[in-house]
Amino acid sequence: MAGNVLEEIKYKANIVDVIGRVVPLKKAGSSYKACCPFHNEKTPSFTVDEKYQSYHCFGCGEHGDVIKFVEKYYNLDFKDAVKQLAEEYNVDLSSGGFGGDSKYAKWYEINRDAALFFYKALRAGPNPGLDYLVKRELNAETCKTFGLGWADAEWHSLQHHFKETGTDEKTLLELGILKKGDKKNDDGTDNIYDKYRERVVFPLINTRGKVIGFSCRNLTGDPPKYINSDDSPIFQKKNYLYGLNVTRNDISKEDAVILVEGQMDVISLWQAGVKNVTASLGTALTENQAALLQRYTKNAYLCYDADAAGRKAALRGMDILYRAGFNVKVFHVTGGKDPDEYVKQYGRQAFLDLMKKALPFADYKIAVLLEGLDLDKTEDNIRFLKGTAAILRELSPVEADVYIRKVAETYHVSEGALRREVASGRKAGGERPRPKYEEPVPENEPGPKNERTAPAKEDAEGRAAQRSLIRIMLEKSAYVPMVKEYRDAFTDPAASRILFAILSLYSPDAELDMEALAEALEPGDAAELEAIRRDVIVAGRDREIFKDCVRALEKKQRERRLREITELLAVLDEKRDAAEIDQLMRELLELQKSK
Ligand code: CTP
Ligand code: MN
Repeated sequence: MAGNVLEEIKYKANIVDVIGRVVPLKKAGSSYKACCPFHNEKTPSFTVDEKYQSYHCFGCGEHGDVIKFVEKYYNLDFKDAVKQLAEEYNVDLSSGGFGGDSKYAKWYEINRDAALFFYKALRAGPNPGLDYLVKRELNAETCKTFGLGWADAEWHSLQHHFKETGTDEKTLLELGILKKGDKKNDDGTDNIYDKYRERVVFPLINTRGKVIGFSCRNLTGDPPKYINSDDSPIFQKKNYLYGLNVTRNDISKEDAVILVEGQMDVISLWQAGVKNVTASLGTALTENQAALLQRYTKNAYLCYDADAAGRKAALRGMDILYRAGFNVKVFHVTGGKDPDEYVKQYGRQAFLDLMKKALPFADYKIAVLLEGLDLDKTEDNIRFLKGTAAILRELSPVEADVYIRKVAETYHVSEGALRREVASGRKAGGERPRPKYEEPVPENEPGPKNERTAPAKEDAEGRAAQRSLIRIMLEKSAYVPMVKEYRDAFTDPAASRILFAILSLYSPDAELDMEALAEALEPGDAAELEAIRRDVIVAGRDREIFKDCVRALEKKQRERRLREITELLAVLDEKRDAAEIDQLMRELLELQKSK
């Protein structure tokens, strides 16, 4: 494997991201701590060091880099671990990575150089950019912290700078810092010019301190108010949150994040002393952004503008965050302002006071529903009942129950009617929609991720279900994507390795190649595969088998989670972990209900 590919993967796949997705990391000083996923323990001795991009367990001695972690955790060999990371982080394995000449390292460097150029131009003042930022009451320290800059009105300032440093123009075009006009110059040369002109420059910096793009505001507010970098191999809007490079420690410390609409809101709040903020760049929040935030906190406050667009974005954003397992609350600043203007006019405390009154997920949705309804009118009453039921159906049964009573009492609707309405629309089983990104599992979960802690006796029913599912995938590969949904439930070590091999070989338009599959497995697992083929008889009953097995696995998962919760509850500290205990109790009730 070309060394450059590995370099590129390690460059892009922040180890804190990769591990944080599956192990609940807690910030501790300059590193992160957790209970070790590779051995059974109750006190955290597993550390992840972001600076050195490495992990180390002081309990069992396991250590390594991001690739080693993926190998161990997912039971993959080196090659497949690289493949998995490359896929996830958009690294082209065939390219040799970074090109022969450390392509992306160079890109970051060029961006950094450009950011510095803009920053110096701002500081060299007086200039309209500086005047503008002063008018918006940003001080010098703030401008420096966020690296704000000024792109002047000339067409070739940055271009000339890069000519002097001998930087390749093609790369500058690829990065979108320079642009090429449709028409050629009179002398037949290409008409190349600076993309950002007469604009305040907000460099987009990732959590590893790399400048990955730019967002540039004009001074007038005429459209387009902002010009942003296009997506590129080093910048994907859907994966980026503005300001995290500055604010993530405060988000961890406060154990809460405030999500706002724009970068001016982030900067203003930060300057006013509300530091645990971030923003998606004017677009709807994405699942990836929610996943990114998860490594700092599970508590999110949405504070979007109060206009119709902001309200709509808040509703969508809260769904994404809720499904990702966040506790979400929403509030809007008052007086037709955005958070930036609000905090400037009324100050930090007023903003925090508003935040204290933020509405939880369901309350906010009900409040929005109520707008424009007149509960004295029968048809509006029905609308309210149906709408509320739809909202409450998204909650767990226990939460929904609490709300049914509350709503009935507050709005004088019939509790029975509301209860029936909620129940009638609930899917069989009545489970709360699964978060897309699963709650990180405690260290003692048995399974493919962690053979060493698997219980000595893997239970027969679960194993039989896993083997049968493998069998029907061999029969019809159309089952592969369906079974994939349950891969966390594959607790039998051999079955889980076979499943991984199947997943890596699967293609939607062909049946599985049995020879290739056997090739991909260690001899012991290949023998197990043969045994499965021999022992499990399908005989046209694949659909039934699938349904039965899935039901059995779900039941196992529930039982396992129940055991985990019971164990956790026994060790948690009532005072210190009150919130967690509360959450677990709710989950426990929910699990018992759906049994
Ligand atoms: N945005 C964008 N392109 C635009 C307009 C907006 O990318 N043409 C993004 C920017 O990231 C912006 C966010 O959407 O920060 C919110 O937009 P808006 O509220 O209009 O901008 P503000 O950041 O509040 O800017 P200002 O206060 O300077 O008007
Ligand atoms: Mn604004």
